[in-house]
Amino acid sequence: MALHTFSIDDALAALPGFPELRGRRTRLRGPRESDADALFAVFSDARVMRYWSRPPMTSRDEAAGLVAECHEQFEARTHLGWVITARDDDEAIGTCTLFHFDARNRRAEIGYALRADRWGQGLARDAVSRAIAWAIAHLGLHRIEADIDPRNDASRRLLHAIGFRTEGLMRERWIVGGDIADSEVLGLLAQDWRDG
Ligand SMILES: CC(C)(COP(=O)(O)OP(=O)(O)OC[C@H]1O[C@@H](n2cnc3c(N)ncnc32)[C@H](O)[C@@H]1OP(=O)(O)O)[C@@H](O)C(=O)NCCC(=O)NCCS
Repeated sequence: MALHTFSIDDALAALPGFPELRGRRTRLRGPRESDADALFAVFSDARVMRYWSRPPMTSRDEAAGLVAECHEQFEARTHLGWVITARDDDEAIGTCTLFHFDARNRRAEIGYALRADRWGQGLARDAVSRAIAWAIAHLGLHRIEADIDPRNDASRRLLHAIGFRTEGLMRERWIVGGDIADSEVLGLLAQDWRDG
């Protein structure tokens, strides 16, 4: 097992701002106030929110609130909530977030969403894979976890493609808009990461 001489907390505290990451086909950058319309387009779509942990947004203010929340959470270093853009475009087409940092056990959780008209092109895989590679290299993460709805085949395929394994099922863990859903728990160990 690799020994790290720095802690995740120190590495997060030392970040001067959102790290900007470039994948083969996507870019991850910090969210801006001007992203609110684009993020509303992503998170107001019932297709995107079908297996999400909260119901679709109904007002642009919620998207503006999301941007503000991402900045507050970055300042507190509890979440790293990037927006995803295409490689050569600046429009926000999704988000990718690392959170639940556990410094002692060198682990964190990941979540992501992409605008529905961009699904199936490998863009989310590229972005998620890049975020994980960065977090392993720069934060020293040993393990990354994801929690998906077991019906979310696209999300599972993405995660399995970059090295995650399904590790278990938690029953009726989410209640969203009156629906009760199980959680499929997946884990990736740093040495198992594969470039998406
Ligand atoms: C999950 C999500 C980010 C995947 O985005 P994506 O850009 O389509 O991902 P990819 O193009 O890398 O596709 C991943 C795999 O899923 C497949 N896939 C894409 N859409 C699919 C669908 N609707 N049903 C089944 N499989 C699908 C792709 O073909 C690919 O499989 P392959 O490697 O065998 O070709 C996207 O569907 C999404 O934003 N969903 C809503 C939000 C969400 O559920 N997030 C996950 C919660 S943590």
